[in-house]
Amino acid sequence: MAVNPVDTDLTELDDTRDSTWSPYLRAIPVSGIRRMVDVASKMDDVIHLSIGQPNFPTPRHIIDAHIDALEQGQTGYTMDAGLPELLDALAEYYGKRYNRTLTPENILVTTGATEAMYLALTATSAPGRQFLVTDPTFLLYAPLIRMNGGEVKYIPTRAENGHQLDPQEVIDAMGMRTYGIVLNSPSNPTGTVYPRETIETILEEAAYRGIYVYSDEVYDHLLLDDIEFPSVLRYAPDLDNVMMVSSFSKTFSMAGLRIGWLISSQGAIRKLRRYHMFTTTVANTPAQWAGVAALRGPMDCVDDMVKEYAARRDRLVQLVGDTPNLTGYWPQGAFYMFPSLPARTDASKVCMRMLRETGVCTVPGDAFGESCLNSFRISYSTSMDKIEEAFERIMPWLDKQTFE
Ligand SMILES: Cc1ncc(COP(=O)(O)O)c(C=O)c1O
Repeated sequence: MAVNPVDTDLTELDDTRDSTWSPYLRAIPVSGIRRMVDVASKMDDVIHLSIGQPNFPTPRHIIDAHIDALEQGQTGYTMDAGLPELLDALAEYYGKRYNRTLTPENILVTTGATEAMYLALTATSAPGRQFLVTDPTFLLYAPLIRMNGGEVKYIPTRAENGHQLDPQEVIDAMGMRTYGIVLNSPSNPTGTVYPRETIETILEEAAYRGIYVYSDEVYDHLLLDDIEFPSVLRYAPDLDNVMMVSSFSKTFSMAGLRIGWLISSQGAIRKLRRYHMFTTTVANTPAQWAGVAALRGPMDCVDDMVKEYAARRDRLVQLVGDTPNLTGYWPQGAFYMFPSLPARTDASKVCMRMLRETGVCTVPGDAFGESCLNSFRISYSTSMDKIEEAFERIMPWLDKQTFE
């Protein structure tokens, strides 16, 4: 079974007292999904609502471009910043999409958004610097900040308002030590999309105070309602204190090809190019050619995927609404929902029992932070049939459980 490697690879370090490893490495926690997937792997007939990657095939023209690149001998290193053709395509694509002048010098091509976020956060995190991170949040950010001695200050979001971020709460959380804020919209694990006003208000205040904004926009195309995507690239006054991270993984269902990028000021990119040389040197060359084909090719393949995600989201919202002891909301993006069990429930125990007793695998809230321990993540990156079948099992089971 394919699971998100980010969710799995961080998991072997469950002895935090083992002095073999540096304190930095020991900042990486045991992943909540690993516990679930380990148990699931020993069971038959499991339905996974736990997968963090698209379940569609990569569009044919992208595969063909990848194969062509291999056949034409495109198997050497590229320039350190990335394949020039891909840098041009990205500058043109984002320039048009967000009406912002970008040059290839604003861009660094990386091994997935994961490397881009690794470079961005570890190159700037340091003792005495505080980073604001939403809670719940994608599991990468806080460990990367802590690994380099930075401090994480969580800003809890709440299921009652669809896990929206209150910009005033963000401003109130900014203090003398605040160095950066990490945004992720559409969000993993909640599927929340922040509206333009939220992004604009945060960017404006951050620019005023000289606080860095790191924006993870890997789900920028997976918008399931008819709304415009408010990227920081559109609304930031300039890129001096902004780093935008994205990739082909989700939009074009090419997570295994591992191509992402970071967009920022030319000064920041110059510094990060040097760092990139010491991490992965360059990203995979034929996969960068596949990326050029993705950006320059037709977008109807993406529209088709988004339509299917939207249909699944609609049905999931109904199913969650009909399930006893479960409270949902309306997620507008990505392919996740983060419904809640009754207050004070330990979702990690419930999810584990639910897996063992119904064979439905989800990811409990403690994998994503500290404030939503009664919630769990459902990924609907699986077929409608599987979603229906999962709820045929979950509904009667949850009905029988007793909560405080
Ligand atoms: C919010 C978020 N950011 C980044 C990533 C990593 O993406 P990539 O495959 O580009 O490294 C993921 C993958 O699940 C994600 O959910």
